[in-house]
Amino acid sequence: MLIRWRHGWEIPESEATPERVALGRRSLLGSAAALGLGGSAVAARAAVSPTPAGVPTGFPGPMAAPVDPRFLPGRAFTPSKDVYTYNNYYEFGSQKNIWREAQRLPLHPWSITIDGLVEQKQTIGLEDLLKQVSLQERLYRHRCVEAWALTIPWTGLPLKRLLEIAKPLSSAKYIVFRTDENHRAMPGLREVWYPWPYVEGLTMFEASNDLAILAVGLYGQPLKPQNGGPIRLVVPWKYGFKSAKAIVQVTFAAKRPLTFWEEVDGREYGFWANVNPAVPHPRWSQARERLIGFDKVVPTQIYNGYGEWVAGMYKGIKGQQLFR
Ligand code: MTE
Repeated sequence: MLIRWRHGWEIPESEATPERVALGRRSLLGSAAALGLGGSAVAARAAVSPTPAGVPTGFPGPMAAPVDPRFLPGRAFTPSKDVYTYNNYYEFGSQKNIWREAQRLPLHPWSITIDGLVEQKQTIGLEDLLKQVSLQERLYRHRCVEAWALTIPWTGLPLKRLLEIAKPLSSAKYIVFRTDENHRAMPGLREVWYPWPYVEGLTMFEASNDLAILAVGLYGQPLKPQNGGPIRLVVPWKYGFKSAKAIVQVTFAAKRPLTFWEEVDGREYGFWANVNPAVPHPRWSQARERLIGFDKVVPTQIYNGYGEWVAGMYKGIKGQQLFR
């Protein structure tokens, strides 16, 4: 039997907001308002209207970059004010409203240490890294394990590109991300029952997937501290906790890392954490998700709708909890 993966963006007409409307109204006016642009919203709208082929040209701003047209989200962007003010970032606390507190995190200068199973260990300044790569805009769905979702225009570099720069050895099987621990700026680090620092990881196969990016921008603007600035992982087929914020170290390893939330409670938050509506969290259903910024609940899609790009990576992996 021929099984055809439905494209993530092939959602029922009733749930889809045409990109034209999505780009032209809510999100743009939202981002313009958040940036205090007011009158320039109209100009901004013209800059992101879809091309005749239906592909949006991207959000204007210092991080403007060409849109990768392979991954259109098929629903309206979340108003930027919601993306900027509704966050999970436990280093700043366990509430959603940490955005004000997060402004205390200094984002410049920033460097990332690349070590472990690599040809040569290196510490690279973020500005140097960005000089070596081409940025793209990726329009992604973002699904938190807590059953809420956002739709976000990220600017970033393919994680694959970092692998080229890092030159891991063939013995490397995993990539491990360690995130910033700034005790002056991050009050959450005093909550000593959490296993700081926040660590996340992927298999090398996953890290090479076209969907995986390191984001440095959002809505055409540099990534704000509350969203993981200046640089964070984005792996949109997995629950949001895999997308580590404020990365300071990338280590290549032969052994699978114990990740932050796995260490907190491995029965609830595993290493793989692929989105699946059919596998409930032990304490709630994953069948549906609430779209933040819209008064709307929609069905969750397996692999968050990215199955055609990622399902093949998990064929043949047996006896593991891939969806938690
Ligand atoms: N990264 C760090 N360093 N600390 C965190 O607490 N929370 C994760 C992830 N990355 C988290 C993190 C969770 S649970 C989610 S859902 C997303 O970030 C939220 O990203 P957003 O606030 O930009 O939507």
